[in-house]
Amino acid sequence: IKTIGILTSGGDAPGMNAAIRAVTRAGIYNGFNIKAVYRGYDGLINDEIVDFTTENVSGIINQGGTILKTARSTDFMTDEGKKKAYDNIVKEGIDALVVIGGNGSLTGAMLFAQEYDVCCIGLPGTIDNDLFGTDNTIGYDTTMNTIVECVDRIRDTAQSHERIFFVEVMGRDAGFLAQNSAIASGAEAAIIPEDRTDVDQLAQFMERGIRKSKKSCIVIVSESPKCGALYYADRVKKEFPEYDVRVSILGHLQRGGRPSARDRILASCTGLGAVEAIMQGQRNIMVGMRNNEVVYVPMSEAIRSDKPFDRKLIQVLDELSI
Ligand code: F6P
Repeated sequence: IKTIGILTSGGDAPGMNAAIRAVTRAGIYNGFNIKAVYRGYDGLINDEIVDFTTENVSGIINQGGTILKTARSTDFMTDEGKKKAYDNIVKEGIDALVVIGGNGSLTGAMLFAQEYDVCCIGLPGTIDNDLFGTDNTIGYDTTMNTIVECVDRIRDTAQSHERIFFVEVMGRDAGFLAQNSAIASGAEAAIIPEDRTDVDQLAQFMERGIRKSKKSCIVIVSESPKCGALYYADRVKKEFPEYDVRVSILGHLQRGGRPSARDRILASCTGLGAVEAIMQGQRNIMVGMRNNEVVYVPMSEAIRSDKPFDRKLIQVLDELSI
């Protein structure tokens, strides 16, 4: 293997740039050529590929987003798209491809590797933390800190007005962001996909907040098309008209911002791990970190939808929010 291609795909996550830097620098250090692919899989299909040197990644470790741009490619899901991507890989002389992205992006890499026998290595780049086999994903820690900062601010106004706030956070189908940010911000409750919540339970949550500080309480709600923060706020407004209820949907501000030190270190270690994996002849794996050690996880495992959710965290929030 002489040339490593690198791309970012799916939703951007803080720390992706640190990962691009790590793969580029570790690759060059170990004698590889690096080719950067712009706009995710779309860039592979459209041949938006350029040579990268160490200078291309200077001064980016502290930047959010991704300098390579990103996309949720629908073309790459088609046979024709994958064929074009493969032709460009051959044309550009790319021998191994490092894909930094979440569940969908790594699923794409896995199918591509199976179909075309390309060496694909994944790096877990998503704020959702929903990839199996790694304790954390790149971007998760930064986003959690962003959410906690936002909730701290919301709490000021919630207490001043004695209001109930439903704060909706991202996470797609996973409640890691919601549960842990609720613990870290001292929220009264979290509503997460891993644990069904009904309105009776909500009443209990709110009473806790109300006991503490008259009529103020914060509930973190994991995003959901059907029962997000607006749904719960409506139910509560109907059943408890005496409460002054507000909703705050944090949205995409959760994805931006300077990556935390933890995310930069995770990206740096796994980025170097990706290059080492290529040198060892590994294929079709994701590089993650478990218990502070770099681990190689088969791509088919990494994309499993049942990453263990530590139910103890539900108890922690429950007992500490009395
Ligand atoms: O996967 C990252 C994520 O931010 C999810 O938490 C969220 O559901 C989704 O992406 C939003 O995607 P988009 O930016 O395409 O609206």
